[in-house]
Amino acid sequence: MQRVFSGIQPSGIPTLGNYLGAIRNWVPLQDTHDAIYCVVDLHAITVWQDPKELAAQTREMAAALIACGLDPKRCILFIQSHVHAHARLAWIFNCVARLGWLNRMTQFKDKAGKDREAASSGLYVYPNLMAADILAYKATLVPVGDDQKQHLELANDIAEKFNHDFSAEGFFPRIEPLIQGVAARVMSLRDGTKKMSKSDPSDQSRINLTDDADAIALKIRRARTDPEPLPDSVAGLEGRAEARNLVGILAAIGGTTPDGVLREHGGKGFGAFKEVLAEALVAHLSPIQAEMRRLLDDPASLDAALRLGADRAAAIADPIVTEAERIVGFLPR
Ligand code: TYM
Repeated sequence: MQRVFSGIQPSGIPTLGNYLGAIRNWVPLQDTHDAIYCVVDLHAITVWQDPKELAAQTREMAAALIACGLDPKRCILFIQSHVHAHARLAWIFNCVARLGWLNRMTQFKDKAGKDREAASSGLYVYPNLMAADILAYKATLVPVGDDQKQHLELANDIAEKFNHDFSAEGFFPRIEPLIQGVAARVMSLRDGTKKMSKSDPSDQSRINLTDDADAIALKIRRARTDPEPLPDSVAGLEGRAEARNLVGILAAIGGTTPDGVLREHGGKGFGAFKEVLAEALVAHLSPIQAEMRRLLDDPASLDAALRLGADRAAAIADPIVTEAERIVGFLPR
């Protein structure tokens, strides 16, 4: 069975973008693939995280993933820092990846902002750790949102250079991104040119999976749009980034296409359309929220499931990374 790996940072509450672009697509893969999913706390600390909040957010993220449909019995679900193989392989990859390759990463440029000198060195080598996450399991399929594509290309460059430099042809496999659906890139509610992000300073820019009905209705009502009514087909969304985003969200939630949404709602003004959208979001998210609350009421059971997940993950990754260390020439202990 083909092995799938994906991860999510516990750097805040998961957003509708995380859900539609990634998490939702992880669920069916549990039944067709050998699926491994990880809450990547090592990645989260590449930018400052309050230690108390980080621990709470890590547990909340795990609860959110289970509430969205990941079943710790049908997939392996664990916390990245619980499996040391990730950090061990990441160090080797720090020594394989070239500075020139990392210099091309657009996410570093976005996240580091203007004061690049003040960014952590962890943020710079972030993609090397991501490559290690996937390759420590020799996973070949990685379901992600559109923004992760460049990092996955780099992971393939790293795998290829490792295999070549150490004459270990085929040791690390090629990986393939799986970027799915109309919502592979959900945009900010305040600016249709920016992606929706859990770390955006404006809470109004995103729907959090934990937002209640009032918050969702208010955020959707305030979402930026243009004054024109909705067109009858997607051709009419050209140059209307905000309208395209809202139509895409309703299509993804309703399991239809943007054209399907416009066949039903074309000609409507945004006032009426936003009410439909907010209602659909509330109906879709409230059972997830109820399940998340139930899971967080019993943190001991949740932590036990994560411990078991870490044991199962380590059983796969440890031998692979130990073999990589042998290939590099480390003396076995
Ligand atoms: P993170 O935590 O930023 O996001 C988790 C997943 O959500 C997707 N995503 C989106 N999709 C659509 N629209 C959006 N607005 C949106 N925002 C986020 C992301 O593409 C991602 O799939 N580097 C990764 C975490 C990671 C990882 C890995 C992923 C670490 N190691 C190994 C795959 C394999 C990240 O920052 O995710």
